[in-house]
Amino acid sequence: MENKKVLSMIQPSGLPTLGNYLGALKNWSNVAAEYDCAFAVADLHAITVRQDPQKFKKQIFDMYSLLLALGLKPEKNIIFVQSQVPTHAQLAWILDCYTQFGEMSRMTQFKDKSKAHPENINVGLFAYPALMAADILLYQADYVPVGADQKQHLEITRDIAERFNGLYGDTFTVPEPLIVETGARIMSLQDPTKKMSKSDPNPKGYISIFDGKDIIAKRIKSAVTDSEACVRFAEGKDGVNNLMSIYSCCTGKTNEEIEAEFAGQGYGIFKQAVADAVIEELGPLQDEFARITADRAYVEDCMKQGADTAYRISSRTLAKVMKKVGYYQFKK
Ligand code: TYM
Repeated sequence: MENKKVLSMIQPSGLPTLGNYLGALKNWSNVAAEYDCAFAVADLHAITVRQDPQKFKKQIFDMYSLLLALGLKPEKNIIFVQSQVPTHAQLAWILDCYTQFGEMSRMTQFKDKSKAHPENINVGLFAYPALMAADILLYQADYVPVGADQKQHLEITRDIAERFNGLYGDTFTVPEPLIVETGARIMSLQDPTKKMSKSDPNPKGYISIFDGKDIIAKRIKSAVTDSEACVRFAEGKDGVNNLMSIYSCCTGKTNEEIEAEFAGQGYGIFKQAVADAVIEELGPLQDEFARITADRAYVEDCMKQGADTAYRISSRTLAKVMKKVGYYQFKK
């Protein structure tokens, strides 16, 4: 039997956060051991928000290097940059024509991002989920590991796939999201009702994967908690719940174990332990990232090889789709 297939991507817009890491990236290495995987840097998605060209180029290189630093193996997994594989934009256009304006208008990310950038509500931002559907469907992915914020985009991908299959017969695998139990929604350290995001204007709200020990310790120390001074997971204790989730992801301990560990102790000691756990988690990744980015030729070789393989595999699905829609194709 064929192995199940997995695909996931991350945008290279700004610094990846601890939320990206605990909600998605950390899990990528786990699924890579079990399934046939493709992972990519979603740089086409990233220009739905204005990017500075020089910084953008570096962010793409850095994000790709980070995927290698996670321990994902280019010989085993397909690791590529989205803009280097033209089939994504091609299928996205076709899927745009099988997606309704009404269903796209209901996407909460579109609503949130249009509010955040009222000066640039572009058509790409609106059509973004169809490009994400193309990413996933091109590789016939069975599972898509993502954080909870991407669940709605997975649902629309499933709707688009089922609609197309209904019209033309089996064409796409209908994918399922793979959402981790703890860490799927890491919240802002300053406003724990909002997700931790790299576009947060208040840097105290997030920890970047590349932050040093001092910054990590400072950010956790200043995280919003409550006045109860009791480490327990409960409704209304959003700040403490969030720190417990972070600690749990880094140490593998359950909420009960964490509550027992800090019983009778204040938030100061707890926060110190959370900071130490995050530092221990990110330190080796940062060292590996520094080692890999120093070898530009190696990173570029992996990129080229990843793009070639991704193109070869995704072209099969695109050809199948184009044939079904009725595009003129030459006989071989
Ligand atoms: P992006 O780049 O915003 O985020 C990458 C991954 O990180 C997860 N994530 C979080 N998880 C937990 N807590 C948080 N605070 C948090 N913030 C982000 C996201 O859920 C995501 O899994 N549209 C996607 C990129 C994409 C994609 C795809 C993903 C493009 N094509 C195809 C899967 C399949 C995005 O913007 O993720």
